Amino acid sequence: MKKVNVDFFIPRHIKELGVYVPGRLIEDVLEELGLKSAVKLASNENSLGPSPLAIDAMSLALGGLGRYGDADSRRLREAISKLADHPPEGILAGNGSSEFILVMSHALLSPGATALMSKPSFTLYAKNSQASGAKVVESPLDAGYGHDLEAIASAIDPTVRLIFLDNPLNPTGAYLRPEAIYKFLEKLPPTTLLVLDEAYIDFCRAPRPDYKALLATNQVIIYRTFSKIFGLAGLRVGYALMAPELAEALNKVRQPFNLNSLTQVAVLTALKDEEHLKKTLSMTWSALDQFKERLPEFGLTVYPTQANFIMARLPQGIAADAFTQALMKEGVIIRSLTSFGLPNHVRINAGTQEELSALFAAMSKVCSGR
Ligand SMILES: Cc1ncc(COP(=O)(O)O)c(C=O)c1O
Repeated sequence: MKKVNVDFFIPRHIKELGVYVPGRLIEDVLEELGLKSAVKLASNENSLGPSPLAIDAMSLALGGLGRYGDADSRRLREAISKLADHPPEGILAGNGSSEFILVMSHALLSPGATALMSKPSFTLYAKNSQASGAKVVESPLDAGYGHDLEAIASAIDPTVRLIFLDNPLNPTGAYLRPEAIYKFLEKLPPTTLLVLDEAYIDFCRAPRPDYKALLATNQVIIYRTFSKIFGLAGLRVGYALMAPELAEALNKVRQPFNLNSLTQVAVLTALKDEEHLKKTLSMTWSALDQFKERLPEFGLTVYPTQANFIMARLPQGIAADAFTQALMKEGVIIRSLTSFGLPNHVRINAGTQEELSALFAAMSKVCSGR
């Protein structure tokens, strides 16, 4: 039989897409380096894991896996509705909050439209926008490694449909104060929507924006995730708040049954476990305070953060890839920011006291060997 050239079927804008670079899996690192154990502080996860109550609830629900679950995550959306005081019709549940980026790009962008974002920021904004055939415009960060709202505002033209802003910003941890967001919103033409990615907002110690006032404009979509503070990254779940008309449009594009039934049960239970959230916040804030104090002892310069991670610049002449590789050999995985265009910077997320001790011990070893 004849063989066709599959290259023909792949449009140029898809060929030009880069692949998403995730943090390394602990299992892979152990296998590659022949280590018995490793500490991972590279993917902004919650080292405490999920609420034990959520694990129990999932165990009880396992017997029901033979049936399809709720295609619309109705109970979950109702629970979020009560929590966020926003109508369920304006709430979407997603297979990780990353699904919203994909679904918004699909439903709201098309060739001829533009998506605007900072560079670096969360990499899926550019990838998913480009995959939908839209033009991607990336605006450099300001001198403090935060979103440069003036530069972004000046890049707006009538084709800009979506502006993605992660607040706090991944990978730098920088934070936009509420007033800055309100001022920025005033500059937006009615042809542009602002997407506020609040994956890390739960860790903020600074004042948070009045999200209800933002939503009332109909011009803002806000989403959050259960991957971080709720420790459910592996389960994949997030929620988005927006005008009901927008939710209706996005809802047509997402997969039915995008949240499996175990996920729905887990989240409904996790929402009630305030104790677990308190423990997570206390672990996170303590770790961040220790990073600020201890990392400069190793010659690293730390940057302000409102997320559950910190960005640090390595001493002059040390490449992030080499540094993270050396730490990995000591059994500690942190993130090099080379793939974000910051080859001298690393990102380290909060962890338990034991994990922090392992990090500082590994850093002592690597830094003394320089
Ligand atoms: C800024 C930001 N947004 C969204 C996500 C996606 O999170 P998830 O898909 O796990 O909800 C991440 C993940 O690290 C992130 O850093």
